[in-house]
Parts: sequence; C-alpha cells; structure tokens
Amino acid sequence: MQPADRVSGSKPYFFSELGKRINQLRAAGVDVIRLDMGSPDLPPDTTIIDALVEAARRPDMHGYTLGSGVQKFREAAAAFYARRFGVTLDPANEVIDLIGSKEGLFILSQVLVNSGDVVLVPDPGYSVYATGAEMAGGEVVAMPLLAENGFRPDLSSIPTEAAKRAKILFLNYPNNPTGATVEREYYEEVLEFGRTYDILIASDAPYTDVAFDGYRAPSLLEAARAGDLAVEFNSLSKIYNMAGWRLGMLAGHTDVVKLVENYKSLQDSASFAPILAAGVTALMGDQEWIEERNQVYQTRRDIALQGVRAAGFSVETPKAALYLWIRLPAGEESIPFCGRILDETGVSLTPGVVFGKHGEGYMRLSLVTPEARIVEGMARLGEWMKGQ
Ligand SMILES: Cc1ncc(COP(=O)(O)O)c(C=O)c1O
Repeated sequence: MQPADRVSGSKPYFFSELGKRINQLRAAGVDVIRLDMGSPDLPPDTTIIDALVEAARRPDMHGYTLGSGVQKFREAAAAFYARRFGVTLDPANEVIDLIGSKEGLFILSQVLVNSGDVVLVPDPGYSVYATGAEMAGGEVVAMPLLAENGFRPDLSSIPTEAAKRAKILFLNYPNNPTGATVEREYYEEVLEFGRTYDILIASDAPYTDVAFDGYRAPSLLEAARAGDLAVEFNSLSKIYNMAGWRLGMLAGHTDVVKLVENYKSLQDSASFAPILAAGVTALMGDQEWIEERNQVYQTRRDIALQGVRAAGFSVETPKAALYLWIRLPAGEESIPFCGRILDETGVSLTPGVVFGKHGEGYMRLSLVTPEARIVEGMARLGEWMKGQ
C-alpha cells in the first residue's frame, strides 16, 4: 500500500523505538531504570478516581457524550482559569475540552495553516507543534532555545520574511525539555510581536502546576489584551496525574476555539462522559494534594540534581516541569551517548536531539520514577562516568 505523501516521510515516534530496545534488554535480564518518558507514575487523588467510578456506574453515561457533560467540564475549566490565573473565560465560547492537549496542538495547524504558511516552533520542543504544522502543509521555522537566552526564543532573530508569513507561534512554559520558565513580561513581548505580524500566539502550558520551591507559573492569557490572537492549551495529564485519561483544554480567542471545536466534531465524538465528570472533580475539588505531589517531585529533583552533578555533568535547577536538561561533555552526541549509558548501565535517558537540532549536546532526565530508583540510577551513572 502506497502511503499518502503527507505521512510517507514521518519517522516513527522516538519512544516507540526506545521501548523496543528496552524490552530486548529486559528480556536479557537487565534491570532498566526508565528516566526517559514524561508520563507521571503517581495516580490522581482518590476523589477523582471515585468520581470516575461513580459516573461509570450510571446507566446514562455510556452513550456518545452529549452537551451537558461537555458543558460542565468547560465551566470547570473556566473556573480553574479564574481561580488559578485570574483569567475570565466564557465557558460557552472561550474554552473547550480536548482528548489530551496533544489532540488540540495537532488540530490547531490543520484549521489555520495553508500550504506555504510558516509556523514558528521552539527547538528543542515537543514534537507535535512541528508534525502538526507539516501535515497541514506548513513550513516549520525553528526558534532556537539557547542557554544564553534562558531557553526562550529570541524574537529579534526571527527573520522578518518568516514572521510576515507566520500564522502560529508556539511557546511552551514551563518548558519541556529544558525546564525553563518565563514571567508575564516575556508573554507581553511575544504578544506584541504577534500583534505586529498578525500571528496567533499559542501557549502550550501543561506544566504550570508542576512547580517547586513555591514557584507559580503565569499563563499567557494573563498577559493577553482583549482581541489579542492568543490561545492556551492546558492539560489534566500533568497537573492531576491523569496522562492516560486523555483530558485537556484549549482556552482563549473565540474564533480559534470555535475552529478547533468544529474540526473535533468532524474527527471525534468527545471524551467518555465519566472521564469528563472526573475532570470536573479534579478541577473543582480540593487542590491541596497537588502541593504534596509537587513535594514528591521536588525531592526527586534534588536527588537527581545532586547525582548528575556528582557524576560531573552541568545542569541548571528547574523551577517547574518534570525534567532536568543535562549538558553533555564537550564533543559528545546525544544519541550515541544515551545509547551507551543504556547499554552499559541500564539507565534510560532521552537524547536531547530527539527534541530538535538545538537539543544536541544535552540529554533529558524525567522525574516520574520513584525516589529509590532515581537513587540507584544516579549511582550507576556516577560509576559509569568514572570510566569515561
Ligand atoms: C510540552 C507538552 N505538551 C503537550 C503534551 C501532551 O499532553 P497531553 O497528555 O495533554 O496530550 C506533553 C506531554 O508530555 C508535553 O510535554
């Protein structure tokens, strides 16, 4: 079967390939410690699971999800934005549910990008910004995230010719993979850039509530003025440990939200109603457990930081998100370097170049593994580095 041109160049998802290698090692008896993927290992609060179970027991919750289930979730999402960021959203027009934010990130380009339009994406970055744009026929222009700029796009270095043709500029803070954060002033600068060139600023913000040392990440929508072309994706995956449930949201500019909503109606039939109901419980319930959960991540972060530094690597202390962005020794390339670590120690880390060419020279460590395993992983890494 001849695949369509639009998919024929697609490479397999890196983590699928890595998973195969890890299965081989495990089959050969290697105790693999996975510090590569960003899938939370802890469950959601029991109130959320109870809400799912209760809703699933109701006979009227199993058909296609109808308006009222969706409506309640949108109201809860709006209440979350009001409580957390002081942002007022109209639940009828300015916020929708998504089957995970990945769905919406992909759709955004499908509804806005024509062939030849530019989409500005952070490099390194979450791969869906670029793959969505490419599938829509767009031209991806990378915005390098460099250490010397605090891992933020330097707006002044975006070529004017590309800015004039750009439809969307993706941002992601707190950032995957670098762990960098930005403040409201930076969002104001980017929004000004968007106004100048008529570009939609799309903030992908699933890590706003995975933060350490009391840090509170802002939302792009706090900085947006009325009429600004601005949207934000958020997700229950990381805030509430619900990655496998597939529940996210898109909020902001009405026209964009409506376009994505319409596309969704052509492609899917909304989330399972009990999942939406449990999402309402997550968004509206007691949020104290999030602080405790963040403490768990913070302890892991500190152990991992201490371990990688003791092993001789250079790494900054992230204020948020789930990752350490570790600089490799000079001259090392991330795929062979991480491959050697995996084969020789059983510790799995993500090569930085997987996130884009400006990720080369780094590797990413995820904090979604229990403390004792991180301790063990750091001990193996330290021993291994002595032999390098
Ligand atoms: C930056 C970023 N955006 C989006 C997602 C996808 O989130 P969701 O589970 O809501 O699709 C991830 C998942 O790792 C991510 O790291």
